[in-house]
Amino acid sequence: MVLILGIETSCDETAAAVVEDGMRIRSNVIASQIDTHRQYGGVFPEVASRMHVEAITPVVQQALANADISAADLDALAVTRGPGLAGSLLVGVNFAKGLAFGWNKPLIGVNHIEGHVYSLWLTEGAEHISFPILCLVVSGGHTELLLMTGHHQYQMLGNTLDDAAGEAFDKVGRMLGLPYPGGPAIEQAAKEGDPAAYTFMRPTSDDGYNFSFSGLKTAVMRAVQSPPASGKRTRGEESMNPGNIKPDVKVADVAASFQTTAVNLLVDKTIKAAQAYNVTEICIVGGVSANQLLRIEMQRRAGLPVRFPPLKLCTDNAAMIAAAAYFNDHAGRNDLDALDVEPMLSIMR
Ligand code: KG4
Ligand code: ZN
Repeated sequence: MVLILGIETSCDETAAAVVEDGMRIRSNVIASQIDTHRQYGGVFPEVASRMHVEAITPVVQQALANADISAADLDALAVTRGPGLAGSLLVGVNFAKGLAFGWNKPLIGVNHIEGHVYSLWLTEGAEHISFPILCLVVSGGHTELLLMTGHHQYQMLGNTLDDAAGEAFDKVGRMLGLPYPGGPAIEQAAKEGDPAAYTFMRPTSDDGYNFSFSGLKTAVMRAVQSPPASGKRTRGEESMNPGNIKPDVKVADVAASFQTTAVNLLVDKTIKAAQAYNVTEICIVGGVSANQLLRIEMQRRAGLPVRFPPLKLCTDNAAMIAAAAYFNDHAGRNDLDALDVEPMLSIMR
């Protein structure tokens, strides 16, 4: 039996977990900072780092206690080295290095995106996963279509050309005056809305397996916001501030129409790739995979098994980091001396 302690601090969740043999969760502790960042309308990096520093010791202690083990029982530690916020990553990486050194255990650096992929191995029936599989990674920072041909073997089929899927949900949520993060808030608001109330454009150019969300975001902005007094919109975030919504706009209808369009964009490309590469199953991971419409539509249209993690493992957690380390040559590996944070790390490296 191999026990790995995972540590994750790449964004605004301080998390630690113990996973047995890469597939069985012994403990999974998450201290979320979402309530604090909500007042800023997004993650405030300096505040995030400070809160990780405060939370990490009790979170790790709790993970060991919940797993009913002591440090001596661990075979290795695993920590997210990137991608993510530099200051946040540093807290986890330095803490994990200190522990690994003090406890004399090997330390494995994990790519956060690969962590999301390995949340699949924490799902029921994961022992039956048979390559090649197609993975749609949809989070606040990523929208990637990965062909996975073996453990740690990826081919990047598509990526976003502009905003990530979760980022689009968050930006549209802010435009509509909904609380951060926008994804769950839009899903909630959409329940009362008519998904056919607005027709937001879908890109006509067929850009392979790549995604684009900025056109959709702009279409939503034009539909809901009054034009500025000057008649000209400024580029970028400042034009997306809330409080400027036309009086006749029904937030629930916009949320439902946006959600349906975004989900269709994701499902169309994923199914096209799944057919072209003859995969055994389609997998959806990352924060946006919590979205029920995305799950339902993918299952309805795929004609293949569709796998996604349970809700608690969709958003950031450390169990997925420990699982990824297990399946990535954990035996005999020790990154302790060479490990550093890599805020822009890609899964292809
Ligand atoms: O994976 P994650 O927790 O953090 C990153 O690595 O980015 O993903 C967070 C993202 C946010 O953009 C959030 O709005 C989105 O996932 N999200 C959702 C839902 N729950 C979280 N998007 C759509 N529907 C949801 N139910
Ligand atoms: Zn994530």
